[in-house]
Amino acid sequence: MKIDLFLTPYPLERAYLSSKTVVAIDVLRSSTSTCAALRAGARGVIPTSGPGEAAELWTKIGTDMAILVGERDGVKIENFQLGNSPQEFTPETVGGKYVIMTTTNGTAVYNKTQDAALVLCGALVNISKVAQRVAQENRDLVIVCSGHEGGFSIEDTICAGMLIYLLKETCHITVEINDAASLALLLYQANQSSLMEIIQRGEHGRRLADLSFGDDVIIAAQPDTIPVLPVLVDGRLVIDNSDKSD
Ligand code: MLT
Repeated sequence: MKIDLFLTPYPLERAYLSSKTVVAIDVLRSSTSTCAALRAGARGVIPTSGPGEAAELWTKIGTDMAILVGERDGVKIENFQLGNSPQEFTPETVGGKYVIMTTTNGTAVYNKTQDAALVLCGALVNISKVAQRVAQENRDLVIVCSGHEGGFSIEDTICAGMLIYLLKETCHITVEINDAASLALLLYQANQSSLMEIIQRGEHGRRLADLSFGDDVIIAAQPDTIPVLPVLVDGRLVIDNSDKSD
């Protein structure tokens, strides 16, 4: 399996995605919150690129059928019902509803993946599920880290490294990786027993702690604690119904 990792979403426009699997990673926090929402019984999470598009969709789907969620600078958008904390996504808030989500970096990535054969939402909380599905699909893989405002982020990179590690060591896939993927793998292998510390010390981990979202960082840094697999179908992230592993 050929694996290309993009440390930021920017080069995605130029990538050839047709016939490939794409895993979009935003550990802090939209991928983690997407997993939390689906585990809480949301019908689907609809990633959108901005508050305007999100609000328009909300009216279209029906305000009783959907809920508007998202953040800018880490904080809930004014007039939206929820922010982007995984703790906000409970059966009471999102059960049976579509979650229309817009976040600073994470949700816009999905707009660039139209040509891919399969698009998965990856986080540490569902990392083994993602690895198993990627291995089962056995297509070439593009991993895209959402990063932060066009820059690199350590939590997404270490998560990508763990995915590559699981593909090699647990799923026994022979991989051919680009240099960014080698870097991520080395980062993960050297720090696999201190993921929490690395992520808490990262720029976005510190930023969230300053905003009193330190517990979200703790939730997001724990592998396999929300074992659901979001797959993009018709613009909606829904639980993968080919997943029979539970
Ligand atoms: C993003 O998309 O930038 C993040 O999910 C931001 C956040 O932590 O809410």
